[in-house]
Amino acid sequence: MPDSANPPIDREQPLSIAVFGASGDLAMKKIYPALFVLFAQGYLPHRFKIFGYARSALSQEEFRARVAEHLYCRSATAAQCNDLSAAFLASCEYLHGPYDSVESYQRLGAAMACFGADPAENRVFYMSIPPFLFLPVADTMHAAGLEQRPAGAWSRVVLEKPFGSDRSSSDALTEHMAHVFSEEQTYRIDHYLGKEVIQNLMVLRFANLIFDPIWNRSCIHHVSISWMEDIGIEGRGGYFDQYGIIRDVMQNHLLQIMALVAMEEPIGLDAKHVRDEKVKVLSCVPALTFNDILVGQYTTGVYRGAVQRGYLEEEGVAQGSVTPTYAVAALRIRNRRWDGVPFLIRAGKGLNARLTEIRIRFREVPGNIFARNAEFLSPNELVIRVQPDAGISFSIVNKVPGLDITLADSELNLRYESAFQASIPDAYECLLLDVLQGDRSLFIRADELQAAWDIFTPVLHDLESCQIRPQGYAFGSAGPTSAVALAALHGVVW
Ligand SMILES: NC(=O)c1ccc[n+]([C@@H]2O[C@H](COP(=O)([O-])OP(=O)(O)OC[C@H]3O[C@@H](n4cnc5c(N)ncnc54)[C@H](OP(=O)(O)O)[C@@H]3O)[C@@H](O)[C@H]2O)c1
Repeated sequence: MPDSANPPIDREQPLSIAVFGASGDLAMKKIYPALFVLFAQGYLPHRFKIFGYARSALSQEEFRARVAEHLYCRSATAAQCNDLSAAFLASCEYLHGPYDSVESYQRLGAAMACFGADPAENRVFYMSIPPFLFLPVADTMHAAGLEQRPAGAWSRVVLEKPFGSDRSSSDALTEHMAHVFSEEQTYRIDHYLGKEVIQNLMVLRFANLIFDPIWNRSCIHHVSISWMEDIGIEGRGGYFDQYGIIRDVMQNHLLQIMALVAMEEPIGLDAKHVRDEKVKVLSCVPALTFNDILVGQYTTGVYRGAVQRGYLEEEGVAQGSVTPTYAVAALRIRNRRWDGVPFLIRAGKGLNARLTEIRIRFREVPGNIFARNAEFLSPNELVIRVQPDAGISFSIVNKVPGLDITLADSELNLRYESAFQASIPDAYECLLLDVLQGDRSLFIRADELQAAWDIFTPVLHDLESCQIRPQGYAFGSAGPTSAVALAALHGVVW
């Protein structure tokens, strides 16, 4: 929900959006298509302009043609969609220049002010650029006065992860950015939080009565959160080799999911209360040590009939790199609800599956009177699948119909695709709408970021200073074999 510092957008007031790094992949494939959907569905103000800014010398026509390639309509006929995309593209402009030129930014500022001063336009700045450019771009914006707004108009900035590479670099980034944009104006995106199934986590937990009494150490044996990809680093070697899977996926996406699974019920839905609860639960997680983590790196393997090269042969990867492409970590939450329940989080590239899911495994039924009717009775498990095939399933033990008492595992299954007629919005559509509506509950607050870095920074430093070599696993396999042993140590069978 919006708060007093972040009023929702007034559709009568003009809006100018500047996308820095507009020539890049993210802008083309996610940001512009999401803004188009918002436009097509009537969420943008009547008067708006989107200014792409980057160094590449593209003409307006070239830029618009690139943007047009990725636009999609979800609920319009082809003819309506063509008309809508023509109208949208007419509001998209492109300016090129260096990222540190005050003069070029002043040009951008003059373009953004094209609607006149009564009322002055609201402004959104989207930093779709590599992280080393965040500060130079913010400083140049400030020198050109781009973020300054008169009374009655606001400006907001959207930042893409990674937010630093450890606690101190993240703090330095936050502190420096604060000279230009206040915390209230800052929207740090973790696009996983915009995914439909992840947004549903709070609804599932707090809008249903049945979960609360069992959502604790008495009934839950462990929680595992997995993120797996069956592709390698896909040409992002330069970036990935600096960051690795822990910083790229675990410290942000998986930890955010864990916080939503484990946090207490917020007293309301506004950003402050939701984020307060996330910070509280993350602050109860002790920093990881060597004993809690295992890292791996994919090697050459055969997957789907083709030889796939190992990580060290990928372009942009340093010779002998020890950057992990796989990691599994066992986290603990030292609070009354969760003490003793392991939260296993794992993320890997070059594996044998593509999926993101949360598994909540319940304890065995004590003194089960049906124990002699089956060789093994599986404990209940709630599975929340984020992708592919979004859905929620719950495994129960059931009597197999017949004259004798035979038990089997059965599944109560809610598949989004068959259960809901509406198509699922992309995470960026939802998050960009929240930016306009002034709702920061799905964005990472500075203290949340600090708490997340505190969990991972010591072990990241240890792994790096000791140059720990990750265990190899063949591309297309299930990951390093020792991951199974680490899980077993915590009573988890993988
Ligand atoms: N792609 C994703 O799905 C994704 C997901 C999460 C986070 N992110 C983050 O979002 C940001 C943008 O992603 P992206 O995939 O669009 O990145 P990108 O294509 O590498 O970079 C975006 C633009 O930044 C400029 N740029 C790139 N490298 C530069 C350099 N060394 N010096 C100066 N300018 C440079 C380029 O524009 P010009 O050369 O025209 O100036 C490029 O088109 C990155 O920080 C990334 O980490 C991306």
